[in-house]
Amino acid sequence: MTQPDNFAGHNIHLETERLKLRPFKDADFDIAVPFYRDPDFLHAMEGAVPDEPVTSDYLKSAGKVMAKDGFLFAIVEKASGRTIGEVCLQWMNLERAKIAGEKVMRSPIGIWDKTLWGKGYGKEVVQCLMAHAFEKLGIDRFCPVDVDADNARSKALWESLGFTVAREVDDGKTLDFEMTRAKYEKAAQSNT
Ligand SMILES: CC(C)(COP(=O)(O)OP(=O)(O)OC[C@H]1O[C@@H](n2cnc3c(N)ncnc32)[C@H](O)[C@@H]1OP(=O)(O)O)[C@@H](O)C(=O)NCCC(=O)NCCS
Repeated sequence: MTQPDNFAGHNIHLETERLKLRPFKDADFDIAVPFYRDPDFLHAMEGAVPDEPVTSDYLKSAGKVMAKDGFLFAIVEKASGRTIGEVCLQWMNLERAKIAGEKVMRSPIGIWDKTLWGKGYGKEVVQCLMAHAFEKLGIDRFCPVDVDADNARSKALWESLGFTVAREVDDGKTLDFEMTRAKYEKAAQSNT
């Protein structure tokens, strides 16, 4: 049964070497707010910076959309016990990336605390979600979409995991990446 504070409405708990992914709670929005007021993080997540300071209610309305379409997780650092970010394993909601007859997912991700960027946490989260999506949910294609071509960290994350650009949008300012099931399985086989 879901807890009253379980905003995500699912009960999937995943674990990596250094991190736990647990259902996102209502209370997590309050933890996120100060990080969303950091211009670097806000720009990376939202593209354009909103006129008004980000509030818990603003984040909750965006979270509602993600939770409705997928599995919204809080990222918890095991060593400190801190909640350090958010990620959603979300059914594809962009028409341009949907493929008839295929199960396609995307995964918006944000590590809130920028002092933790570049430590391999993003990669750890995505590898864990790819395994869940391909092996447990039986998806056909994993497609991180709407990546700002100027976001070097985000681009490097997807490229380092073997994703390739499926399409360029808006004169190359935005990139959609993809990984097919066949490519995922081939990589998984060569790692065993
Ligand atoms: C994007 C984000 C999730 C990546 O997570 P991360 O933990 O910082 O990235 P990792 O440490 O796992 O690095 C993944 C790969 O990118 C490379 N990388 C990391 N930072 C980089 C940088 N500034 N420039 C180039 N490459 C970089 C790493 O070397 C690694 O590749 P490797 O394994 O081949 O060495 C994280 O930085 C973040 O939350 N940023 C702000 C929000 C955001 O941009 N979200 C994505 C919106 S589409």
